[in-house]
Amino acid sequence: MSQWKVYVTRPVPQPAIDLLAERCEVEVNPEDRVLSKEELIEKIRGRDGVFCLLTDKIDAEVMDAAPGVKVFANMAVGFDNIDIPAATARGILVTNTPGVLTEATAEFAWALLFAVARRVVEADKFMRAGKYRAWGPMLMLGQEIHGKTLGVIGGGRIGTAFARRAKGFDLKVLYTDVRPNPQFEAETGGRFVDTDTLLRESDFVSIHVPLTPSTRHLIGERELKLMKKSAILINTSRGPVVDEAALVKALREGEIWGAGLDVFEREPEMVPGLAELDNVVVCPHIASATWETRTAMATMAARNLLAALEGQLPPQCVNPEAYKAGR
Ligand code: DGY
Repeated sequence: MSQWKVYVTRPVPQPAIDLLAERCEVEVNPEDRVLSKEELIEKIRGRDGVFCLLTDKIDAEVMDAAPGVKVFANMAVGFDNIDIPAATARGILVTNTPGVLTEATAEFAWALLFAVARRVVEADKFMRAGKYRAWGPMLMLGQEIHGKTLGVIGGGRIGTAFARRAKGFDLKVLYTDVRPNPQFEAETGGRFVDTDTLLRESDFVSIHVPLTPSTRHLIGERELKLMKKSAILINTSRGPVVDEAALVKALREGEIWGAGLDVFEREPEMVPGLAELDNVVVCPHIASATWETRTAMATMAARNLLAALEGQLPPQCVNPEAYKAGR
């Protein structure tokens, strides 16, 4: 007999729904679109748990409008879409999905780096437009990856997995974070430096930090000017970590050579001018979008949600203080 009522805010891989359905009465938003705040509130009222996504803004108003909700299980490692202090103050648990998307995200950061450095998207457009006449010694020259210096901003799980792959291309690795990570160094041979040194010395810079007040606009006009004119910037973390308007200016004026972006300051929008540039590759936030990873993320979120409803501390709880306070 189903006991808890659960709402899932978008269609997600079926194994997660099956897991929830074994123990709960589950309703899934059948439409593959983001609900408005009003719709979200209406849908989650009277539920015990919500399976949500990074596109759902869960603030105090949403929490207060649905006081029965004991847990928001976010299907993402990032949880900047949820007001954590507000949840904790209300004894509501919030969970995320770390670990399972590490390799897919690291792979995708490399896909972007290769696409930009070797002008893959530009070349594809060129072919489809029927512009290829003959092999040319100066046609579509890009940048070699091999032997260059890679700068990793954020030496956590994803940054480490990204940097580990640099070995295959004989890259020298620099990294920065709030503090050195011995595991990063052991796995990648990378050297800890301050952010300015990393920006000055790296040929390729890839961002792997969460969005927090201290990382918002971490890369702005000043930082872009520190980078080499030949540098490539990759962002698979969160859009607001980069000042997108400053990036457009830097790309347009040749202050850096190129960029690969999977995330944007005001998703799904792009800042004016970005889409017109050939030296940027833009993707719709798909770094973790593989069948394997999205299924793993969804089932992890479902397990977290069930654990919370059963009165346990969920394995991936981002505010365990709320659990203690609620007992
Ligand atoms: C996350 O999990 O935070 C990613 O941005 C989406 O996969």
